[in-house]
Amino acid sequence: MEDPELYANSNGLQKHDTSIVLSEFMPLMKWSNDDAILDVGAGSGDVTRHLLWPSCAKFSHIVGIDRSQKMVNYARKHFQNERLTFEKMDIVDAVQPINVFPHGFTKIFSFFCFHWIHDQRKAMSNLYELFRPGGICLLVFVARSLVFDMYERLAKNPRWAPYMNVLLDIKNGSYVDLLKL
Ligand SMILES: C[S@@+](CC[C@H](N)C(=O)[O-])C[C@H]1O[C@@H](n2cnc3c(N)ncnc32)[C@H](O)[C@@H]1O
Repeated sequence: MEDPELYANSNGLQKHDTSIVLSEFMPLMKWSNDDAILDVGAGSGDVTRHLLWPSCAKFSHIVGIDRSQKMVNYARKHFQNERLTFEKMDIVDAVQPINVFPHGFTKIFSFFCFHWIHDQRKAMSNLYELFRPGGICLLVFVARSLVFDMYERLAKNPRWAPYMNVLLDIKNGSYVDLLKL
């Protein structure tokens, strides 16, 4: 999660699924040269640049946000340009994010991020604040996977528990950083 180079070289599954979703839903949207686009949890930025950007028929600019400074630094170094910028922001912890992006966004995307967010209500509330009227949102995340069950069992196993840095919050079905517990 914190190694941008490693992630960028091993996110083939995510890219595959994101490509399928984008090819299905992007042609259904109306596009404008004024479109301001946000990618939440942009990570290493390669999906933002190589999949999201070419799928947008028209746009003014794209902003990728991520809570990891390492990810943001990597994305800036490799993909930032005059129409694509990356900023550090935690979509849960952000307080009045509209102050950071005062013009808001017409379209908000997020790929393989929301299953890492424990307070999804707060995240959605912050996204709502960032929308211009009539904005569109497309979120791609894992709602259910056997991998989550495996993580849960490993986290409870004394042999493997010390190596686990995530724990399944059974109550709300999402992952919580152990450090935050
Ligand atoms: C699996 S990566 C996905 C990266 C990219 N969207 C992709 O599809 O390849 C998930 C990213 O979400 C970020 N993330 C997790 N929780 C976040 C939050 N609350 N706010 C912003 N970014 C978050 C992580 O730092 C990580 O870079």
